[in-house]
Amino acid sequence: MLVVVHENYDAMSRKGAEVIASRIRRKPNLVLGLATGSTPVGVYKELISLHRNEGLDFSKVVTFNLDEYVGLPPEHDQSYHYFMKDNLFKDININPSNVHVPQGMFGDVKISSFETDPKIVQFCEWYEDEMKKYGGIDIQVLGIGGNGHIAFNEPGSSIGSRTRIKTLTEKTVADNARFFKTANDVPRYAITMGVGTIMEAKELLLLANGAGKADAIKAAVEGPVTAMCPASALQLHRKAIILTDKPAATKLSAEFVTYG
Ligand code: GLP
Repeated sequence: MLVVVHENYDAMSRKGAEVIASRIRRKPNLVLGLATGSTPVGVYKELISLHRNEGLDFSKVVTFNLDEYVGLPPEHDQSYHYFMKDNLFKDININPSNVHVPQGMFGDVKISSFETDPKIVQFCEWYEDEMKKYGGIDIQVLGIGGNGHIAFNEPGSSIGSRTRIKTLTEKTVADNARFFKTANDVPRYAITMGVGTIMEAKELLLLANGAGKADAIKAAVEGPVTAMCPASALQLHRKAIILTDKPAATKLSAEFVTYG
């Protein structure tokens, strides 16, 4: 694992965008895994400016997002469909038919049959197959939850898990309530790539900033590999890069990290 600590959020974001841009230049039809949340917004801003100022070309890039809330239509301003359009896709030359964000609307499905509903199960299988059709994800961007989750794989998620529906923990609902009017408005379920799905990406790029992520980063990088900290699975990956700012790295052993 390569852990690089940056002076601040902007420096971390510049580095994250540089890594992605270098992969696109090397392979114009890169299969790029994308994440939502506040953390990658700076990377997306940098990518937009590389597109505008240096002609970084997304026309052949194929994207797959990690997750989507269940029950929010794509036009809802807190859906991840909307987030991606608003924070990246509308400002780059991506081909809309190359964009994949998990479906979040499945009509009238009872909560009790969420895990077995054929519409949901078939969608999740299709999403996995679609990734395979493009040869798998070349590089996957990740954030990290305060409880160590990646995508919406909450603590306890199997390290071999695949794309499926997951119930959000109270901690995640509380953390994400800042984006909604009230905590009651935060969806309780999401479709998410599994930890096993994420681990199949050829390269992983996890970003973390702020003191609120320091415990999760310590557990992910130096703790045991355990389903209780899904991000710790990165220790088993062949090519995982972790970029942080200083506050997110305060609990790491100094000799482990490099400085960017
Ligand atoms: C959500 C997303 C994750 C993201 C996490 C952290 O739960 N599903 O993919 O990494 O939040 O969000 P933030 O970057 O806002 O701290």
